[in-house]
Amino acid sequence: MSDIHVVVLAAGKGTRMKSRLPKVLHEAAGLPLIDLVLRAADSLAPQSTTVVVGHFADQVKSALGKRLGLRFALQEPQLGTGHALMQAEPHLRGSSGTVVLLYGDVPLLRTATLRSLVDTHRASHAAATVITARMDDPRGYGRIVRTNGRIAAIVEDKDATEAERRIDEINSGIYAFDLGPLFASLASLRAANAQGEYYLTDLVRTYADRRLTVETLKLEDSREITGVNSRKELADVTAILNARRNEALMTAGVTIVDPTSAWIGPDVSVGPDTIIHPNVHLEGRTRIGSGCVIHASVRIVDSSVDDGVVINNFCVITESHIASGARVGPFAHIRPLSEIGEGAHIGNFTEIKKTTVGRGSKANHLSYLGDTTIGDQVNIGAGTITCNYDGVRKHQTVIEDGAFIGSDTQLIAPVTVHAGAYVGTGTTVREDVPSGALAVSAGKQRNIEGWVEKKKKKR
Ligand code: UD1
Ligand code: CA
Repeated sequence: MSDIHVVVLAAGKGTRMKSRLPKVLHEAAGLPLIDLVLRAADSLAPQSTTVVVGHFADQVKSALGKRLGLRFALQEPQLGTGHALMQAEPHLRGSSGTVVLLYGDVPLLRTATLRSLVDTHRASHAAATVITARMDDPRGYGRIVRTNGRIAAIVEDKDATEAERRIDEINSGIYAFDLGPLFASLASLRAANAQGEYYLTDLVRTYADRRLTVETLKLEDSREITGVNSRKELADVTAILNARRNEALMTAGVTIVDPTSAWIGPDVSVGPDTIIHPNVHLEGRTRIGSGCVIHASVRIVDSSVDDGVVINNFCVITESHIASGARVGPFAHIRPLSEIGEGAHIGNFTEIKKTTVGRGSKANHLSYLGDTTIGDQVNIGAGTITCNYDGVRKHQTVIEDGAFIGSDTQLIAPVTVHAGAYVGTGTTVREDVPSGALAVSAGKQRNIEGWVEKKKKKR
């Protein structure tokens, strides 16, 4: 079993977000910040993961409730990062190995970076290893003070001297610790500083005094340790995550016309030779096959789209399946639990709900099809409406293979149009239509001669 224990600090208030939602639950590119951090942590296959919560503790805990095996430690009140880590001690007492400390609001860390943190830490048999980076504008961060090239202390911006403020190597706040000396050393921290907090960073000096080795891992790309403190930073982080995601998809053979406006969630898959046009949103557990074209301004949520499908502009598709070779849109709304068959066509201003459309069937214009089973090679005329709701209950409509529904038809469910039957234009279908029959309901047309002339005279 792995001897890595992950601790994620997430007790802070996040004042600058100006939000009623805890900061770590704000989403970036389809996932809450804390989930992004936990996913990166999962890649280390840790023996345990502890989240330190404080502000909004209940909200954070219930949002993470679905994750199995997560432990929580409550930090109340919040007396600084060192104090936060102390709260995890009861969970880790008696364990040995490496603690990897992460922040719930630092979501860009790559798996490979966490791996090399652990590798560096172990190879050097250090008591602590800190991820650092050089920054053009290091303001606000703790600075890495070195003597003879080795890290000697971390000084917080608010406590730094003029000379220390000029140091451009900063503390990421991400560390690996050997569990051995950790909690005993934390207990010796004092809050004698500008913020009156127990600084985790003071551990570096404590370790130096005790002749315990502290190592650093200096990152090439300082963006990886960007923290989210404001909505502006949330947008920055979102853009970076999105660019990474789209780059990976393009490498795998997907054409993305404008990577800045394609929003493809972390759990979405897209097959090679699919073309994604601008302003496309693919969300949740969506799966897109290969050789598809997704035109501009389409949103697809928790759906699966097979190979060679064309989704035209301005469609919304939710919890549905589109089989290969089908064409959908423009302006179509495919609502949950629908199934569009192979080679079927769903055209403009057509709404489909809880409905199966068979192979090669067409509903090209202005229709509502709800709670309906449509067979193969069926033609649904313009303006066809299934009246599935009687004000109390929903009812089923069945339209069997090869049936032809004329334009402006209302099908009053429950009702069945049997295989090959025809329904004339403008029919209100209240009763089943047998195979081979033509259903018509409108009366005979009457033309009243001279009617217009008479009406004008009256005025
Ligand atoms: C911290 C570091 C600083 C580093 C910077 C990197 C310290 C003293 N300073 O500063 O050297 O450059 O991160 O981003 O460690 N938290 C708690 N409980 C608390 C306080 C904080 O859980 O009592 C959590 C916050 O929710 C957050 C993280 O710890 O996830 C960092 O806290 P924050 O107050 O933002 O630290 P910084 O001042 O940014
Ligand atoms: Ca911070």
